[in-house]
Amino acid sequence: MAIRATMPTSTSALSFTETLSLLALSVACFAVIANTFQGDGAPLIASLAFSGIAFATSYSMIRWLGPTFMKAGLKGKDMSKAHKKEIPETMGAVCAVVYLLAVTIFIPFPFYKDIVAATSGGGNRDVVQTIENVQTGRFLHRFPHNKLAAYLSAILTIQSVSILGIGDDLFDIRWRHKFFIPGIASIPLLIIYFVDFGVTHIVVPIPLRPYLGELLQLGFLYYLYMFAIAIFCPNSINILAGINGIEVSQSLVIAVLLALNDCYYLLNPYPHPATDSHLFSLYMLLPFIGVSLALWCHNWYPSKVFVGDTYCYFAGMVFAVVSILGHFSKTLLLLLIPQIFNFLYSVPQLFHIVQCPRHRLPRFNSRTNLMEPSVTEWQYPPKPIISVFLKLLDKLYLLRVTTNQEGQITESTNFTLLNLWLVWFGPKREDRLAMELLAMQTVVGFLGLFIRHNFAMVLFEKDNLYGVV
Ligand code: UD1
Ligand code: MG
Repeated sequence: MAIRATMPTSTSALSFTETLSLLALSVACFAVIANTFQGDGAPLIASLAFSGIAFATSYSMIRWLGPTFMKAGLKGKDMSKAHKKEIPETMGAVCAVVYLLAVTIFIPFPFYKDIVAATSGGGNRDVVQTIENVQTGRFLHRFPHNKLAAYLSAILTIQSVSILGIGDDLFDIRWRHKFFIPGIASIPLLIIYFVDFGVTHIVVPIPLRPYLGELLQLGFLYYLYMFAIAIFCPNSINILAGINGIEVSQSLVIAVLLALNDCYYLLNPYPHPATDSHLFSLYMLLPFIGVSLALWCHNWYPSKVFVGDTYCYFAGMVFAVVSILGHFSKTLLLLLIPQIFNFLYSVPQLFHIVQCPRHRLPRFNSRTNLMEPSVTEWQYPPKPIISVFLKLLDKLYLLRVTTNQEGQITESTNFTLLNLWLVWFGPKREDRLAMELLAMQTVVGFLGLFIRHNFAMVLFEKDNLYGVV
């Protein structure tokens, strides 16, 4: 990347080329936005332009604020380098703030005309245009007024999770406590969901219909499911972490795949039931991709900044919010297969069946400059049942254990996908490990989308008939 190549390493100032490129990008984006005011406007084009400005703003702010963050104690040691240098941490906070501003200032683009023209103005709903007009006439691709509540609840929830994430980065909250942080942040979303739509039924797969009927009313359980999604997404990204660039890159892959999936729906002839949900998702995802790319430029190997838990929570919550409000959480789960695997694989350590050190990231071997699986040392031999379990996993190539002469376990690799990858494919350089995992994430993601759009037909008769598949 041209911008990256010219990045000065020891200063927080932008180079001349960077300044020029970012300025040019911003001017072009402002021009596009100004242009959308003429005629009927085009919210999607405006959203793209906003994302460009969000990229330029985050890119510069991350650079300028680095030393300030360090001074405030928001810094971390890069553990996988020969010289364990300290660099700024919590840079996800910059992204989250820029993102929240971008999606807030964007509100008039999809909503303004509807609020003013579809009513007599001033919020009076006495002269309301008929839905046919809205869908076929010049209000095409504009949201009805009532979608604003959903949009604002999304902003509120992402804002809450970012604030709580900053708190976590500041106070280094213990894992068992911080696990529930995103759940607290999801409350605004769930409350507005309850007040505004209250849709709590799901479409039953064909093989189960003789027993359950076509639609299954889940009621309270549906809220529990959304709550679980909101807790899972941010945490699953936060624990697939620890090597340079992996948090932002996996989020970028997921966001781009979700955006591609959204575009697929936009290709359908307009009044398709799912179009609005996917347009909504695009408006939330494009600026996210913008700010994440800016962070990626600084966080990719060798990292100049760390993203912090704030970014992991922010990213995961953006995915949770768009998938909940767009009713495509099952599609999201297909894109999160590596994260789900990593979470399930981590369970023995997360629930302390096997001891869990503070950090489980792969171990850097300073002699070879390569990453190796990190291990948990067993000062006392594990209980017999755990010993059998660990040895079984070792036999299945799902773990590596070291035993002493008496056959007692002295070391076992930590239960993370990153360590397992190194057990399977041997030591490798940090950036190589990140690239291989991202390639896997991309392939699995495309496979997930393929399955979703082909097997949904088999299981649900139609692809998204009710927008709740
Ligand atoms: C999670 C993981 C932990 C892992 C950590 C790495 C669980 C339960 N927790 O904890 O095992 O070690 O993420 O992010 O799975 N760091 C690097 N290089 C990087 C990224 C991070 O050395 O590329 C180190 C830095 O010292 C940084 C720290 O990790 O300061 C950040 O860790 P933090 O995000 O606070 O860890 P957790 O999210 O609690
Ligand atoms: Mg973290």
